[in-house]
Amino acid sequence: AEQKAALIIEIKALLETRQAVLVAHYYTDPEIQALAEATGGFVGDSLEMARFGRDHAAQTLIVAGVRFMGETSKILSPHKRVLMPTLEAECSLDLGCPIDQFSAFCDAHPDHIVVVYANTSAAVKARADWVVTSSIALEIVEHLDSQGHKIIWGPDRHLGAYIEKKTGAEMLRWQGHCIVHDEFKARALKELKAQNPDAAVLVHPESPASVIELADAVGSTSQLIKAARELPQRKLIVATDRGIFYKMQQACPDKEMVEAPTGGDGATCRSCAHCPWMAMNGLVAIKEALTDGAERHEILVDEALRVKALIPLDRMLNFAA
Ligand code: 13P
Ligand code: SF4
Repeated sequence: AEQKAALIIEIKALLETRQAVLVAHYYTDPEIQALAEATGGFVGDSLEMARFGRDHAAQTLIVAGVRFMGETSKILSPHKRVLMPTLEAECSLDLGCPIDQFSAFCDAHPDHIVVVYANTSAAVKARADWVVTSSIALEIVEHLDSQGHKIIWGPDRHLGAYIEKKTGAEMLRWQGHCIVHDEFKARALKELKAQNPDAAVLVHPESPASVIELADAVGSTSQLIKAARELPQRKLIVATDRGIFYKMQQACPDKEMVEAPTGGDGATCRSCAHCPWMAMNGLVAIKEALTDGAERHEILVDEALRVKALIPLDRMLNFAA
């Protein structure tokens, strides 16, 4: 504990001397979220992280999350230095949607408008007409559908199916999935619900449709925290990465939170619902990002690609504004 406290003091000093700001996702470890809060940084969902990094005066951003979040920051702020605790923090949605194959899929349907989830590479974003995050996907697809557009959706199949169901839009869907949310089990959740009839169920839309069906609230990480606060129930069953419990408990300290089951046997797994790539963002790695040579931590995006990827990203940000 003493070592950790010393490390935190060291990082705080480094952030100051480097004039850097720490931007963290809710799925990172609580100590990282606390550090961001204590140093004038930010904790939020992927859309809010992108906005905060873009609008903050600091010329160096430390993005604690996964690669696509760092890339998005760089696309929006090309003159800032964007560092990540590790460049190896991937996302199964991004990995499952390689640009060549996705581009061929789009080319095969040239009359379709291409909408991609933010959890994608800069190259995939550059191939898209719109980027969306889970907090704004419904509104944007509804808007495009009402204008009569045919839509290609990628890469998350569960979020895509959820959007289709809610908006009535028919989309050609890429079949990617998040390895964390795909693991939530409807049967076990139903049993847990039956044992806790007074509990509300909160679900991130990257979860399977059968799990979403059982939800009292569905939304992005920030939307789930808002729902946790606003729902009348004092007990909450939460189907998303367990990193969210830190801010959710802060938002409603008097409520009880339970992890939704990821095993089929009805047992709640205390550590399953945690993104292995988010978990790579440790304090030591943050210190290294501030002290090591940039080559191991700096996010760079090819300028021609960046300019192309900025167009659909800006569309989303302007739509959300
Ligand atoms: P949010 O946009 O809800 O923060 O989700 C990002 C993510 O990676 C979810 O798994
Ligand atoms: Fe990607 Fe899932 Fe991890 Fe989010 S939780 S970063 S969607 S693998």
